[in-house]
Amino acid sequence: MSRQTQSARIAVPAIQAMKGGAKIVCLTAYTAPVAALLDEHVDLLLVGDSVGMVVHGLPTPTAVTLEMMILHGQAVVRGSSHALVVVDLPFGSFEASPEQAYASAVRVMKKTGCQAVKIEAGEALAGTIAFLVQRGVPVMGHVGLRPQAVHIDGGFKAKGRTDAEWSRVIAEARAVDAAGCFAIVLEGVAAGLAGEITRLVSVPTIGIGASSDCDGQILVTDDMLGVFDWTPKFVRRYADLRGAITQAAVRYAADVRSVTFPGADEVYRFKSKA
Ligand code: KIV
Repeated sequence: MSRQTQSARIAVPAIQAMKGGAKIVCLTAYTAPVAALLDEHVDLLLVGDSVGMVVHGLPTPTAVTLEMMILHGQAVVRGSSHALVVVDLPFGSFEASPEQAYASAVRVMKKTGCQAVKIEAGEALAGTIAFLVQRGVPVMGHVGLRPQAVHIDGGFKAKGRTDAEWSRVIAEARAVDAAGCFAIVLEGVAAGLAGEITRLVSVPTIGIGASSDCDGQILVTDDMLGVFDWTPKFVRRYADLRGAITQAAVRYAADVRSVTFPGADEVYRFKSKA
């Protein structure tokens, strides 16, 4: 491939350079058609392990596998050409050792063509993040509410609401920053804490339920499209796909039952051989 024909995707250093500048726009994507629709409007597409709950109906992200992430990562890379694509390393695929994390990250990058991986981790795995970055794997960090810690936490609980937690989240963010992450997701942290972390760390912070004080924002796309009847308090709905899909299904069912679908223009015609 010549240098001219290489991908025009936003690259990791371009995201890093947005620290303190224009807000970084990020959304999750799991399929090629949705990635294609979002691609030109965002800077970064995250193939989040939220795919387990959003697409596969799992109760938590902990059952998501590397194979699932690879399949959805491939679809999102195929469907997009502009945004930086980051794929989550799922629970159990990186915690055992830096070597396990490196093998998982390289497998994901080779199989999907994504440019980076995301790791939910605090200080305990800062060494693992450094191991990956030093070997050429760009890593996005994720601190604060970590959905993969749902069973330790006893639920999806906002962080930084006590002095001890506030200090712990700051320590986590500083540790993953020092380890070499190119950006850090701050999820579900108390107002004020995200601003403090954003000032303290050297890389962009991407907030979800973390106030507008971050360098960028991310939402789970299905949440902001209104696919579910319940969404967390920090989600703003930009569409009502639940209503639109329900209405479409109601009309389709009525048309089938009243034999008005398919109509005369919705069938193939016999072509004679002559
Ligand atoms: O899995 C995911 O979609 C995420 C985002 C919510 C940041 O981690």
